[in-house]
Amino acid sequence: MRISTGQKQDFFWVKAKMKEKVYDIFIIRSILQIVMNLSKEELEKLAQHYFHGLSINREHKRMINHYLNELEKKHEETYLHSNRVGILSVEIVRNSGRDSQIILCPALGHDFGKLEIALYLLNKKKFSDEDHERMKPHVLLGVEIMKKIDPFYAAIILWHHYHKPQDSYPTDEEIKEQLALLNLPESNKQLSKEYGLLLAMADVYDAMITRDNNLYGGKVPPDKTELLMLHAFKDRNMNHQQIIRTLYEKGIFGQEYDIFFRNLYYQHITCKDKNSPIISLHQTAGDKVLLQNQSQRRR
Ligand SMILES: [Fe+2]
Ligand SMILES: [Fe+2]
Repeated sequence: MRISTGQKQDFFWVKAKMKEKVYDIFIIRSILQIVMNLSKEELEKLAQHYFHGLSINREHKRMINHYLNELEKKHEETYLHSNRVGILSVEIVRNSGRDSQIILCPALGHDFGKLEIALYLLNKKKFSDEDHERMKPHVLLGVEIMKKIDPFYAAIILWHHYHKPQDSYPTDEEIKEQLALLNLPESNKQLSKEYGLLLAMADVYDAMITRDNNLYGGKVPPDKTELLMLHAFKDRNMNHQQIIRTLYEKGIFGQEYDIFFRNLYYQHITCKDKNSPIISLHQTAGDKVLLQNQSQRRR
């Protein structure tokens, strides 16, 4: 049996062989690699691989990386969460027919505002109502940072805690005010909400399965998250229920990160499959987003 390097390291191929009960040294080695956790370095390498594939301004990339480094120094858990949410958001947006070029920067930077939040709060495992209130300003603080990079990215992160009407923040008035200050074309305001709520899906899912705090009653096993996700996104009437079901059907949600990220790592880093469509290079119809800083620089 001839096995190509790509095949040997492909998760689905290994899974199929396991089902057929065909084991050889290559398969056993591949299984061992697949079940190993992705290290911090591997996660960073994967996120940076996505990031370098973006066709955006070099200065924007430098600034995103600068703030990511600051986040790593301040609170590693939030930094790792940001990397995972960045990758996951790209996969969510790509699988919901949107332009994944747009989402990576705001997803990597959605919690940059936590740079201004007290460390003792970031380290808490049990949040009181007061703690929750003290955490809320991180959205608007993040908008202040992100608008130096691009106002559209800033508008997207405005919505990343907006999915639950009874517990959403910032307030509708604050969001309206911020959107006016960001001076975006009307079409981009609506688009920022759509992308911001897809980013919220990645954020909530990651928090559910990785954070051992009292928001979801401790870490939730990935295969037990579907009803919680459907419940968390049931109120905004934006086709979210259908998107979430599709994400579970496609295995983007519902499986252990060890397997999900390990498989992406094999696809994009180990196998160096240049044909794998990580980031779609064309925007979908109707998603013609004007990234304002870029257009101003061109003038
Ligand atoms: Fe947040
Ligand atoms: Fe977050």
